[in-house]
Amino acid sequence: MAASIQSLPFFLQILLLHLHQSHCKTLNTISASLPLHDGDVLFSNNKHFALGFFRPGNSTRRFIGIWYNKVSEQTVFWVANRDRPINDTSGVLSINSQGDIVLHCCSNGSSPLWSTNMSTTIFDNTTTAKLQDTGNFILLQRLNNRVLWQSFDHPTDTLMPFMKLGLDRRTGMDWVLTSWKSMDDPGPGNFTHRIDPTGYPQIFVYKNGAPHWRGGPWTGLRWSGVPQMINPYIFNVSFVNDQEEVSISFGLRNMSIISRMVMDPSGLIQRSTWQDRGGRWIQFYAAPVEQCDYYGACGANSNCNPYNTGQFACTCLPGFDPRSPADWFLRDGSGGCMRSPGASTCQSGEGFIKVARVKVPDTSRAHADMSMSLKECEEECLKNCSCTAYSAADESRGGFGCLAWYDDLLDTRTFSDIGQDLYIRVDAAVLGTQEPTFVLNLLSFNYIDSLGPYC
Ligand SMILES: *[C@@H]1O[C@H](CO)[C@@H](O)[C@H](O)[C@H]1NC(C)=O
Ligand SMILES: *[C@@H]1O[C@H](CO)[C@@H](O)[C@H](O)[C@H]1NC(C)=O
Ligand SMILES: *[C@@H]1O[C@H](CO)[C@@H](O)[C@H](O)[C@H]1NC(C)=O
Ligand SMILES: *[C@@H]1O[C@H](CO)[C@@H](O)[C@H](O)[C@H]1NC(C)=O
Ligand SMILES: *[C@@H]1O[C@H](CO)[C@@H](O)[C@H](O)[C@H]1NC(C)=O
Ligand SMILES: *[C@@H]1O[C@H](CO)[C@@H](O)[C@H](O)[C@H]1NC(C)=O
Ligand SMILES: *[C@@H]1O[C@H](CO)[C@@H](O)[C@H](O)[C@H]1NC(C)=O
Ligand SMILES: *[C@@H]1O[C@H](CO)[C@@H](O)[C@H](O)[C@H]1NC(C)=O
Ligand SMILES: *[C@@H]1O[C@H](CO)[C@@H](O)[C@H](O)[C@H]1NC(C)=O
Repeated sequence: MAASIQSLPFFLQILLLHLHQSHCKTLNTISASLPLHDGDVLFSNNKHFALGFFRPGNSTRRFIGIWYNKVSEQTVFWVANRDRPINDTSGVLSINSQGDIVLHCCSNGSSPLWSTNMSTTIFDNTTTAKLQDTGNFILLQRLNNRVLWQSFDHPTDTLMPFMKLGLDRRTGMDWVLTSWKSMDDPGPGNFTHRIDPTGYPQIFVYKNGAPHWRGGPWTGLRWSGVPQMINPYIFNVSFVNDQEEVSISFGLRNMSIISRMVMDPSGLIQRSTWQDRGGRWIQFYAAPVEQCDYYGACGANSNCNPYNTGQFACTCLPGFDPRSPADWFLRDGSGGCMRSPGASTCQSGEGFIKVARVKVPDTSRAHADMSMSLKECEEECLKNCSCTAYSAADESRGGFGCLAWYDDLLDTRTFSDIGQDLYIRVDAAVLGTQEPTFVLNLLSFNYIDSLGPYC
């Protein structure tokens, strides 16, 4: 019954495997007595997600990250020590005596490379860290089942289903995506994706803090500048705008779909879904991709229309002329447009001209009143000579609410099929001289009646 010579390597293999496993553990929780070493992996209960040390792209440096366990191409969607890389495999993620998750390296006890920084909490030895089935990494006080900290509150570059983008008005907590520096470096890059709560809240991509792409305000169904969201959507989207917070989150209707939104290092905000069969991510939305997507491509008081085949995409809004006709002639629209000379738009027979299917102008200084009808909105705008344009604030239920602008109209663009109607204040002359041919030339301009002089 003695083991044959041939079987010895097999036993050795088992032994080696066992030794390897005892060195590299798979964990369900991290606790004070059970830290995670480089090589160990923490799994969510459903095994969809994994947390551990990884090496991005061609880098040799090591980071703590969370990735999809069931996606063959390692895809990291959260990173802890973004700008504090580790040069070797000495990293350890543990829970310290203050009850914080801390990252140490280099076998020394100096200050951590990264910490959850919650040290206000009173430590009890029931505090553990877990990876939830949504991919959310949480610090949990078992004693009272309280979540002390969660990775979903500290996004990296990826918005996962059930995660929020926006801000908590009470705590000032900001849920913002920040691009990686490059595919090799998860350090904070130059692009951020966030909701700007100023005026009537809007979604933006910023480059070094300046607007790069504007998705516009929430229309009740979608972002004004993202018509793609109206198509039968794989998500139930919830948008919240109240005194406590302004946020958007995407819930999955079918939990077996793997979908993510990433602020990528080149400045694209892109949504993609994982296709198991092809073993790759399929992109189904990205911005900015065309000239009209870039913030303020045509300057103030203009409209960017990418469907003007062969023609300049920038057109002045009705009642406005190029500020610099010479630049405009050379197809540089950045100077924008100004009110046509001699126009009188204050209580002298002015009215509104509709521009159809647009992303409405920047609403960071617009006024919104959700209780008004479109007719009331028009009357209110006409009454005030500094009101330059209005539109319905919400396009659901046939359109309601009032959005009104009181200064320059910035970053308007046309879409081919889905968009909002924007009503521009023009003087009596422009109302009267709108020839049918002009209407045809600028497909998106339509008449609406002058309401006549107010008073
Ligand atoms: C890694 O380097 C190879 C060869 O230089 C290159 O083709 C590849 O794109 C790089 N990958 C990343 C993620 O930077
Ligand atoms: C890793 O190496 C770089 C460059 O040599 C050094 O600046 C950095 O402090 C090292 N990081 C750690 C955590 O040791
Ligand atoms: C611990 O290691 C880090 C990273 O290499 C280094 O910056 C720090 O000086 C070390 N501290 C001590 C006390 O050795
Ligand atoms: C924790 O606090 C320290 C000191 O205030 C700060 O340097 C560090 O960036 C903070 N870490 C995190 C992850 O917020
Ligand atoms: C926590 O501390 C209590 C009291 O010191 C001890 O009885 C218990 O075993 C500890 N539990 C763990 C999980 O370490
Ligand atoms: C970010 O922008 C600055 C200023 O334009 C530039 O110097 C830097 O290289 C950029 N960083 C990355 C990672 O592209
Ligand atoms: C999506 O719908 C499900 C149930 O239909 C709900 O439990 C979940 O909270 C919703 N998610 C979002 C983000 O609205
Ligand atoms: C959910 O998605 C999976 C994978 O795409 C598909 O096989 C399944 O039929 C879907 N389930 C429902 C209820 O739509
Ligand atoms: C017109 O609207 C502006 C901006 O809301 C406001 O400051 C101004 O008081 C209004 N003027 C009148 C006459 O209502």
